Amino acid sequence: MRRPLIAGNWKMHFTVPEGLEYALRLRHDLEPYAAHLDLVVLPPAVMLWEIANALRGCPIKVGAQNAGWEDQGPFTGEISPKMLAGWCDYLLIGHSERRQLFGETDEELNRKLQAAFRHGLKVILAVGETLEEYETGRTVEVITRQLSAALYGITLTAATDLTIAYEPVWAIGTGKAATPQYANQTMGLVRTLLARSFADLAASMRVIYGGSVTPANTRSLMEQPEIDGALVGGASLKAADFIQIVQATAEVVRSKRV
Ligand code: PGA
Repeated sequence: MRRPLIAGNWKMHFTVPEGLEYALRLRHDLEPYAAHLDLVVLPPAVMLWEIANALRGCPIKVGAQNAGWEDQGPFTGEISPKMLAGWCDYLLIGHSERRQLFGETDEELNRKLQAAFRHGLKVILAVGETLEEYETGRTVEVITRQLSAALYGITLTAATDLTIAYEPVWAIGTGKAATPQYANQTMGLVRTLLARSFADLAASMRVIYGGSVTPANTRSLMEQPEIDGALVGGASLKAADFIQIVQATAEVVRSKRV
């Protein structure tokens, strides 16, 4: 079994003091579970450094929600992977909100991916179909396009630090998670596509699910063979919910080992 990864995407929530207080609570409550899975929080950029310091020496890792591809220069409002290197562990790239609200293209995501790996960051690359694409039966086509464009030129060595988050856009923030069976099937497709680029390595790469993950549906999702963890949005903002999601995942890990 691949080691699961649970990531909390805080999106644009919390002030700096609130985020810091929350991170310290997670540090206290989640540390025991780190033996079973990898834990990541993705705070807004403005509090990333503060939270990385607060979690230093603790198994919970921090990641940025977005970064550009240049190292430095006249790019007002942007942060670079070079600025994150050495203290920030993960970078989320290609979230559907970035694609839809900020117009990010597959080609730009490829540049971001290359830059992130150049600076030694671990990457969570998000892919997923919109409701319209889902309803018109274009899921396979969309995922294939998103992955092949983003992964163009990515080496086997870099791919060891890559996790794919499959997030059907229609499931994000809607309370309507994909069924475990549908998610598992689509994530199997993701793995098949990864094998085209990375051959045998694909079997050990993590593919995680995102979209209305809650304490109530975590177990049934995590029991699926292709689901290696979760990217959690709304439920990651409430300590009790996030902790329960982590607990449920750890229980599935333990039961699979028996
Ligand atoms: P959600 O968000 O859990 O609130 O659906 C997931 C995400 O956007 O990563």
